[in-house]
Amino acid sequence: MASSAPLLEVKNLKKHFPVTKGLLLQKILGHVKAVDGVDFTITEGETLGLVGESGCGKTTTAKTVLKLETPTEGSVEVYGKNVHLLKGADLKEYRATVQAVFQDPWSSLSPRMRVRDIISEALVANRKVTKEEVDARVAELLSQVGLHPFQAPLFPHEFSGGQRQRIAVASSLASYPKLIMLDEPVSALDVSIRAQIMNMLVDLQQQYNVAYLLVAHNLATVRYMAHKTAVMYLGKIVEHSETEDLFKFPLHPYTNALFSAALPSHPDILTTEIVLQGEVPSPINPPSGCSFHPRCPAALADADLMKRCQGETPVLAEAAPGHEVACHLYTGGATGSVETTGILFKTGLEAEQAALKFKAAQAAGIGATVASAEDASRAVEASRAASKAQVKKEAVSRNETEPAKGNVETTEAQSEDDTIEG
Ligand SMILES: Nc1ncnc2c1ncn2[C@@H]1O[C@H](COP(=O)(O)OP(=O)(O)O)[C@@H](O)[C@H]1O
Ligand code: SF4
Ligand SMILES: [Mg+2]
Repeated sequence: MASSAPLLEVKNLKKHFPVTKGLLLQKILGHVKAVDGVDFTITEGETLGLVGESGCGKTTTAKTVLKLETPTEGSVEVYGKNVHLLKGADLKEYRATVQAVFQDPWSSLSPRMRVRDIISEALVANRKVTKEEVDARVAELLSQVGLHPFQAPLFPHEFSGGQRQRIAVASSLASYPKLIMLDEPVSALDVSIRAQIMNMLVDLQQQYNVAYLLVAHNLATVRYMAHKTAVMYLGKIVEHSETEDLFKFPLHPYTNALFSAALPSHPDILTTEIVLQGEVPSPINPPSGCSFHPRCPAALADADLMKRCQGETPVLAEAAPGHEVACHLYTGGATGSVETTGILFKTGLEAEQAALKFKAAQAAGIGATVASAEDASRAVEASRAASKAQVKKEAVSRNETEPAKGNVETTEAQSEDDTIEG
């Protein structure tokens, strides 16, 4: 199936579910716009994280890529071929190329099948293999996911949750896929084993050069595993960039709100809490213009900006190199100041500078106004120094000499707190 086209290309993907009334003559009352015009690409060996509050359309996007849902509009292409039009040998090849690991290892593995048959299912169905080859591959995969080849004849109920997820990963890798959908792969697991599974997935990615679409509402998981991250809100991608860039310079007010709702990943980073106003609106009748406008601190603080946000849907566009955002603050014609964060956005302001200012204003606290990128850097440094002093003071008051250092275990321990509330 390999070609010069990207591994996965999702173009203007829409999935609208009809809302019906009545049993026989079903009347369509409206549509749930679960996915509403999403574009992204994944290249070989890359992980794209998809984050957002519960119900924003992450799983529906993954299911459409997996052909478990048909798109209402738009397309999903694997190596340039529309997966929803595949037939015969191409369809078989797609099945071997794209695999999935779901959240719940208790329901995703058939209780009546032995581990050997679960792992070899995709291999036997999609590739020509002998019994000896299957046995050898199953033994190899069990070892690679940290289990033992002699466990092949056992049934899923004879394993713990973490071990079952290891079996699910082994099964997804059997046919040497190029892309695996990971839908909340560690969310259902005990906190103590999440880091092990995440590390295993990262190691296996390097070994197999497999790409992942990582669906998660846990920011720590995405930051640890994803090379790039897309933030979804009500069926649309509102921000997309390299993961570290996104976490260091979140541009979209929604992304900022998500991050400020989670704990900082390092004591050096101070976040000023942005409290989101209002409930997540219904995807059946999303708000006009930018669907985030009823909850957006920037728009709520500026009547002119709000008018524009209510009437005009922002499109995802590059605001800084490799960093896309769908927000009028970063498009030409943005007016007014953003009082809640103390940032003055001017028309045509360079987005990178704006991002720096946004971060600086967050760090320096509500009400700060930063006039230049140099000012912003100084404000960040000053707030870091203040933060360090505060952490030291707290450590001394707890009779500690050194504050805790950040590592994978810290990521794991705090991952509970970095979870986006649905
Ligand atoms: N089969 C379906 N029929 C109707 N609505 C659905 C269906 N599947 C999902 N939805 C709705 O689509 C929206 C997005 O759901 P989902 O993709 O599961 O979100 P997420 O994975 O981000 O939590 C939700 O409002 C959900 O209720
Ligand atoms: S477009 Fe307007 S409402 Fe939407 S996030 Fe940007 S400022 Fe807020
Ligand atoms: Mg989901």
